[in-house]
Amino acid sequence: MTKRIAVMSGDGIGAEVTREGLRVLEAMAGKFGMATEISHFPIGGVALDQTGDPLPPQTLEGGREADAILLGAVGGPKWDTLEFSLRPERGLLRLRAGLELFANLRPAQIYGDLVEASTLKKEVVEGCDIMVIRELTGGIYFGEPRGIKGEKGARVGLNTLVYTEPEIERIVKVGFEIASKRGNKLCSVDKANVLESSVLWREVAEEMASQFPEVELSHLYVDNAAMQLIRAPRQFDTIVTGNMFGDILSDAAAMITGSIGMLPSASIGADGALYEPVHGSAPDIAGKDIANPLASILSVGMLFRYTFDMPEADRIIQSAVVATLSKYRTVDIQGPNTKTVGCGEMGDLVLQQLAETSEPIPVPAAH
Ligand code: IPM
Ligand code: MG
Repeated sequence: MTKRIAVMSGDGIGAEVTREGLRVLEAMAGKFGMATEISHFPIGGVALDQTGDPLPPQTLEGGREADAILLGAVGGPKWDTLEFSLRPERGLLRLRAGLELFANLRPAQIYGDLVEASTLKKEVVEGCDIMVIRELTGGIYFGEPRGIKGEKGARVGLNTLVYTEPEIERIVKVGFEIASKRGNKLCSVDKANVLESSVLWREVAEEMASQFPEVELSHLYVDNAAMQLIRAPRQFDTIVTGNMFGDILSDAAAMITGSIGMLPSASIGADGALYEPVHGSAPDIAGKDIANPLASILSVGMLFRYTFDMPEADRIIQSAVVATLSKYRTVDIQGPNTKTVGCGEMGDLVLQQLAETSEPIPVPAAH
């Protein structure tokens, strides 16, 4: 069956990195004999300029109809002073909410000898491989009531942190499932010493633990988790947490790897799946062909793993990336004994590496 991919390149370096991600997607689809149908949709500032809306209805619809979305990045200084509802970021938040992409997977993994790029000591971060699973469509990001109310001088800024039991259940379940395919260790992060929503979160996680006897469940308060991530990150395998805690902890986890420009993500829900680099639109380097396309390329790996259920394809892409990095780097991760290349050339090199992969390609499971 033809797989439908909706491409939403967005703003800044979004277009150039997504172009390379897409080339890898098409090459891998070819390798596995899969037919793909690619459609492009505007999102973010580009969409706002074209249509007056950072998430035009046809973009949301296109995302809903696709098997997977490959997104670049949204935002830029040009739109930073606009009112909240018009900001490019709102387009992304509405897309997450509209397709109920509730499970955000953010792996923080060190690729090859990039260990040198971390600001932490090599002996602390070496071998780190953490999966942060962030709840993405609930919590304080979306809770009602919200807003700024009242008269100037006495205004109140209000947001609501609310989690329902079904919302907690479904994300914690993803946490257990993913942990059981990795190191069988799940750490649930909350603030149960202060927040009722966290007390409920912890209870639900405990109740679910009996369904996954092979997974060791632990709990940490978010402040302690932040400290532990920096102190001894290797203690973590899989982390599951709410929307805002996950936003913050996934950035911290990303920096352990030293190269946020390398990290992919997946946002998975009942109604679709979206794959995007963790890095932003980097408007200062947009259009210069110097951006690092590897996060987009690795996001394509996650797409094969989670949407097409082809972990082997993800492994092939990851190996090609690691092999390429041993000789070539983009400027953000340049090293002493490697050649610095541009965005398009890095894409070419990964494709070359993929073409040279001689290992037998297993036939994907039919589904
Ligand atoms: C992220 C970003 C977004 C978020 C912003 C751009 C709305 O920080 O994906 O982590 O806070 O979710
Ligand atoms: Mg963030």
